[in-house]
Amino acid sequence: MDDALKQLIRISNAVGKDPAFVQGGGGNTSVKTADGRSMYIKASGTALKDMSEQQGWRRLNVEQTLGIIRDKAVVALPDQTRELEVTNRLLLVCDDNIKAVARPSVEAHLHAFLKRCVIHLHPNAIGAFVNAANGKARLEKLFADEKHPPLWVPYTDPGFMLARKISSLVEAYEKEHGTKPSILFLEKHGLFVTEDKPNAALDLVQRVIERCNSNLKPFAAVKRKPADIDAVNQTKLCIRKGFFQATGQYANVTWHASDSIAAFMRLKNAPQLLGAGVLTPDELVYANGPALWIEKPDANRLAAKLAAQIEKGSKYSVSFLVKDLGLFIAGPEKIVATVRDVVESSIFIRYNADRLGGIAALSRKQQQFINEWEAEAFRKTLAAGSSEGMLKQRIAVVTGAGSGLGRNIAIGLARAGANVALADIDTNAAAETRAAITAEMPGASAVVLSCNVTDEANVNAAFQNLMNSFGGLDILVNAAGVAPPYALVDLPVDKWRLALEVNLTGYFLMAKAAARIMIAQGLGGSIVNLSSKSGLEASKNNTPYNATKAGEIHMARGWAMELGEHNIRVNSVAPGNVFEGSKIWNPEYIKVCAKKYGIKPEEVIPYYVSKTALQKEIKGQDIADSIVFLCSDQARCITGQTLVTDAGQVMVR
Ligand SMILES: NC(=O)c1ccc[n+]([C@@H]2O[C@H](COP(=O)([O-])OP(=O)(O)OC[C@H]3O[C@@H](n4cnc5c(N)ncnc54)[C@H](O)[C@@H]3O)[C@@H](O)[C@H]2O)c1
Ligand SMILES: [Zn+2]
Repeated sequence: MDDALKQLIRISNAVGKDPAFVQGGGGNTSVKTADGRSMYIKASGTALKDMSEQQGWRRLNVEQTLGIIRDKAVVALPDQTRELEVTNRLLLVCDDNIKAVARPSVEAHLHAFLKRCVIHLHPNAIGAFVNAANGKARLEKLFADEKHPPLWVPYTDPGFMLARKISSLVEAYEKEHGTKPSILFLEKHGLFVTEDKPNAALDLVQRVIERCNSNLKPFAAVKRKPADIDAVNQTKLCIRKGFFQATGQYANVTWHASDSIAAFMRLKNAPQLLGAGVLTPDELVYANGPALWIEKPDANRLAAKLAAQIEKGSKYSVSFLVKDLGLFIAGPEKIVATVRDVVESSIFIRYNADRLGGIAALSRKQQQFINEWEAEAFRKTLAAGSSEGMLKQRIAVVTGAGSGLGRNIAIGLARAGANVALADIDTNAAAETRAAITAEMPGASAVVLSCNVTDEANVNAAFQNLMNSFGGLDILVNAAGVAPPYALVDLPVDKWRLALEVNLTGYFLMAKAAARIMIAQGLGGSIVNLSSKSGLEASKNNTPYNATKAGEIHMARGWAMELGEHNIRVNSVAPGNVFEGSKIWNPEYIKVCAKKYGIKPEEVIPYYVSKTALQKEIKGQDIADSIVFLCSDQARCITGQTLVTDAGQVMVR
């Protein structure tokens, strides 16, 4: 391994592992080769701590990288096309053999004309100064004893223009001081430290951050009250509704509490500190700006605030600091950890920058540049072809999700873009379903809910877990069912009772708890009872199944009448025989059927297929598709109905 790469991995891992350095996320590092011709640099999208010989870096040709910055033709391009052009060109000047899609850091060009080892970070300690109105003067004073003073870089639009600005400032600095700067403070952005030797760079970055930190004030210690879980639940539902009303998007809502959040929220001027504007490009890109202060949760008022942001052409808030409760984040699971980190950093920086002379925020024009850059990049990904699911970001609970149809339905809902909660008494089986979902769709959100549908306390606990994970509910599919196959004269009463418990009481308890949440949330919803064609046409030797499957259809009709005023639709799906993955269709059950029709067990599946108009074996995905349809907006006028998905066997009126 090249020495320069070894050194890069060492400094990256060292700073990446230290929480004092990497708060606020972001940051990148580079080391140039001994001959100065190439530069190893962190790849974009990887964490500093995860960089290794195998991954997390690219190597660039230094001269060609500098060529991009000097290219007049690039300067002449309109802002947005230019940034994409530069990102592509950076890829072209890579001189390694890496075939992967990893791009060099978007700040790569900027590293090219600094000293050999470069560490760039956005630590809170620096943020407090570079976001303070007179941060420049304070930093000059703080570092007055340096042999060569730090270089202050006034805010410049990120990307290419920032690289050009720094290149001219560094050139001027070199003329004046006879050396390149070692410390660069970037207004409303962060810190660059650059030295020829890796250890010197590491020592310096530590010294700079420590000195800044020792001039800041930590939050006062606070005693936190235990959370009022009902209030947290209600707030989640309310945020979810307001968010949907303003943006047309379903979102997960999560709740976060910490000492610093509690301390910040007790400041008298917390709302003013949040209202001071967007601090940095990162805060805008990763968290849509600062958290919105909410005095008292109210869906309509929240929707009006978000709508006003959209109207003004700003990004809408995705994080909310709700008085006395804490931080709430609305959005897909994958953004939550990042947004929380950005908010934690932001409140610390706001608190301290305010004490250091007032918060310096991004101007509207500076924000606009970043928004348009992002929009342009987004259009590109759309052009590259991304399809949005019919149930994007909706929250669904599926019972019996550990096996057979429940599993297929859960997978089908996830394929349609929903977050799925996999409720089953058999949590190992549900965990297998979860593994299948994340293996197929790495970005999907799926959680296992341990749940015996026949036990009310257990059902309620499962829904509380759902609220903790996703913060709302749009879809319930009741699929956990049993089918004890006995002739009437042989049917043991406990088997009869078990079927009533699971197939009727279970469906009822789940629907009751789900409807309560959906009503409180106020966004409508969809409940589907998975019945069976046996619920319409009796089948032989199936007394409890016939009774309960018919009962499920009829319960759904009644619920449809009750819940219609809340725009909660309730329907049933009646599948034909689905053998794939089903535990109901176990060898014993198949034997009973074979006997019933006087055929051999292996003839059972072909026998059932022969009875369908389409001459087709029904698969799990066929049932899942029917359910996705019923839960989607396309079925917005369908409620109280039974959709028979049986390849044409039972034709209901
Ligand atoms: N497979 C078919 O041919 C077919 C046809 C029509 C309807 N259905 C219906 O589909 C549903 C699922 O059938 P399957 O064949 O996939 O069954 P299956 O036995 O393969 O799966 C049922 C799942 O429900 C879970 N379960 C059982 N009791 C539970 C309880 N008390 N609480 C929580 N979970 C519990 C089980 O652990 C299992 O994971 C049933 O409602 C059934 O009536 C199936
Ligand atoms: Zn940066």
